[in-house]
Amino acid sequence: MDKLRVTGNGPLRGAVRISGAKNAALPILCSSLLVKAPVTFVNVPQLNDTRTTVRLLNQMGVTAARTETHRVEIDASTLTKPVAEYDLVKTMRASVLVLGPLVARWGEARVSLPGGCAIGQRPVDQHLKGLEAMGAEVTLDGGYINAAAPGGRLKGAHIVMDMVTVTGTENVMMAATLADGVTVIENAAREPEVVDLANCLIAMGADIKGAGTDTITITGVDNLHSATYRVMPDRIEAGTFACAVAAVGGEVTLLDAPVTAMDAIFDKLRDAGCSIAVNGSNVTVSRKGPLKAVSVKTAPYPAFPTDMQAQLMAMNVVAEGTAVMTENIFENRMMHVSELCRLGAKIDITGNTAVVQGVSELKGANVMATDLRASASLVIAGLCATGTTMIDRIYHLDRGYEHIEDKLIGLGATIERVSS
Ligand code: UD1
Repeated sequence: MDKLRVTGNGPLRGAVRISGAKNAALPILCSSLLVKAPVTFVNVPQLNDTRTTVRLLNQMGVTAARTETHRVEIDASTLTKPVAEYDLVKTMRASVLVLGPLVARWGEARVSLPGGCAIGQRPVDQHLKGLEAMGAEVTLDGGYINAAAPGGRLKGAHIVMDMVTVTGTENVMMAATLADGVTVIENAAREPEVVDLANCLIAMGADIKGAGTDTITITGVDNLHSATYRVMPDRIEAGTFACAVAAVGGEVTLLDAPVTAMDAIFDKLRDAGCSIAVNGSNVTVSRKGPLKAVSVKTAPYPAFPTDMQAQLMAMNVVAEGTAVMTENIFENRMMHVSELCRLGAKIDITGNTAVVQGVSELKGANVMATDLRASASLVIAGLCATGTTMIDRIYHLDRGYEHIEDKLIGLGATIERVSS
């Protein structure tokens, strides 16, 4: 199992290109199931999760392959088996994103339940509620979701989501593109990745209005067609590098960053003492003065994202003052706290709130990555620490960050992948 050896080495300097967004690429790859023709996606990051999605499609008989570093070509006209097996779904919860497209295009699907995961229970009841409202018959057996559209076609429906769910909104939106009639999703997720998926579906011929607001209206069409679509850049990867610069100091330009989707992140970094200079789609983040602790509450977009909570905490750990950080999306997303404390952080947790008391120094230690964004927080903390930090279980990191160690080395960090 690979580990990362990180040695604190002072400020970061230079420029780093931001990869395509994992959370946009995954639903976009799954949207290919709606089309009986070849589609091409570019700017698809090379990650374990995108590899898993391509394998999942292959298991269904779909022709899908990475034809260039960041280009994936898919032809779902060869689909033979609308089944997502447990062996792959258990490694990636987002596999449930095949459910809506399969029922819409094939009339039925059998998809393993994703089950719990490290950061909480994460049920899929809202995905199923949406599909049922569109007429799908849904049953659960042997750990699988079976869904079928009577007569082979879903029907448009008015759906009010009980809570804001990103993949829930995406699943229902994809299913509705081929339904008979109009579907309205209220209390829809407004995340930029939902908008990117909607733009991709529109490029394939879907009729979707209101993506990016809390009400999305989809008028079903008979077929979607071939298209080439470029996945948006990753705001969480960009935010992770920005937090790293805030924590260790220096000046880094994020190339091809999704600037307009990052307001909540940049606001917090400005409060922490960073300067943020935007030039088109490039952003230069720098910190020369003292670092100040910033409090935050996570919430759905456009508020501060849960996917940045761990990285901002790593920054707060070495800031002046005290930060109160409240996690409002997932019930068990503070597992990085105990690992950060192994490096010398002072953090108290009560319920879903962490009180972070900044310290002047962290010391390298052996730590364990527990989930994707927790892993990133440990990398940032390792960059701030004196001595060497060894991060175990970095397969979590490889799910969502493309070549993170190479990118950090390019910025002057001392970091090395160690295979054991
Ligand atoms: C997506 C992102 C993930 C991010 C999360 C929140 C992808 C592939 N993943 O995950 O990186 O952290 O959004 O921004 O895009 N819920 C239910 N029932 C449901 C669906 C969700 O109770 O049917 C709850 C969840 O348990 C959670 C909250 O709603 O408490 C939000 O979850 P959701 O937005 O669905 O997260 P994901 O789409 O899984």
